[in-house]
Amino acid sequence: MADDTAPMLEVDDLSVRIGTLDGQLEVLQQVHLRVMPGQVVGLVGESGCGKSTLVRAVLRILPDSARQTGGAIRFRGTDLATLDERRMSREIRARRIAFIPQDPYLALNPLFTVGQQLMEILRWHGQAQGGGRRQWRARIAALFARVRLPEPEAMLDRFPHQLSGGQRQRVLIAAALLCDPELIVADEPTTALDVTTQQQILVLLRELVEELGVAVLFVTHDFGVVAELCSAVTVMYAGQTVEAGPMTEILHAPQHPYTRRLVECHPDRMRELRGIPGAVPSLVNPPGGCRFHPRCDRRVAGCETRPPQLVDVGGDHAVNCIHVHGGAA
Ligand SMILES: Nc1ncnc2c1ncn2[C@@H]1O[C@H](COP(=O)(O)OP(=O)(O)O)[C@@H](O)[C@H]1O
Ligand SMILES: [Mg+2]
Repeated sequence: MADDTAPMLEVDDLSVRIGTLDGQLEVLQQVHLRVMPGQVVGLVGESGCGKSTLVRAVLRILPDSARQTGGAIRFRGTDLATLDERRMSREIRARRIAFIPQDPYLALNPLFTVGQQLMEILRWHGQAQGGGRRQWRARIAALFARVRLPEPEAMLDRFPHQLSGGQRQRVLIAAALLCDPELIVADEPTTALDVTTQQQILVLLRELVEELGVAVLFVTHDFGVVAELCSAVTVMYAGQTVEAGPMTEILHAPQHPYTRRLVECHPDRMRELRGIPGAVPSLVNPPGGCRFHPRCDRRVAGCETRPPQLVDVGGDHAVNCIHVHGGAA
């Protein structure tokens, strides 16, 4: 029986490097993340902060040019780096940890019906034995109904191009639920959709989370979405975890200047992060000291030179800032 008081996913001090023509990118450095059983955690930060790289590291689908250079990723206590590829793909990926990708247009194969594609997932995980075609069709149709796809039976025989963007994303959510995962990782699952469809998909995800009690790591650049859906947040900036904590605390008492800016930006309905001057730095040669210091309105002496550490401030809240160390001049 799984222990529900232990973290389900633990990322500790993770570093990942990617080799590029410009040199080695330290894409992730000192990344920390916790997801407890049944918890919905938002992973938030501007584009280019390393969110997708973290997701790929967790699922072990990093590109060949990337490697984990430090730290550990544990799922239910098992260091994922110790699993061979076969166990990773048969037991973990798409089974215990399901993935909902950003772009529903790219994630489905145009040559096969959506029913065939979901059937293939069941077959891959050895869950298609016993019971004939009729039974697996019924199982997938039931899931389609659950994600509120119209005419679920008929939907099985449709090709991806016959569906709208929102319907394709619902198919991918159904695919994620197919093997009763313990954790769903969703990487900006609504970013490619129009605003109305985004909202409908969020409502659906919230209902499913309540119904199934599944844990979710929800990745987005949009703090508004996190506030709507998540009970805890991890904020990333330029490849590092800068703050993590319970949603209410992060919303009402953010401590890192970057988090503060993200939170301030969010009530604005045009809520792209245009409120923060400057841009996420290149990770080929990131700023020394605190990586946020060139954009920070609370910069003090020491911020350029002394890299801060993530410090526990109590109540499951951790902050990576000189002001929290008490090291400010
Ligand atoms: N395969 C890759 N090759 C080179 N650079 C990459 C690769 N993947 C990601 N990066 C770089 O790593 C940084 C983080 O990217 P990413 O993880 O996609 O961030 P996010 O998902 O937060 O937008 C960016 O600077 C990006 O350009
Ligand atoms: Mg991304």
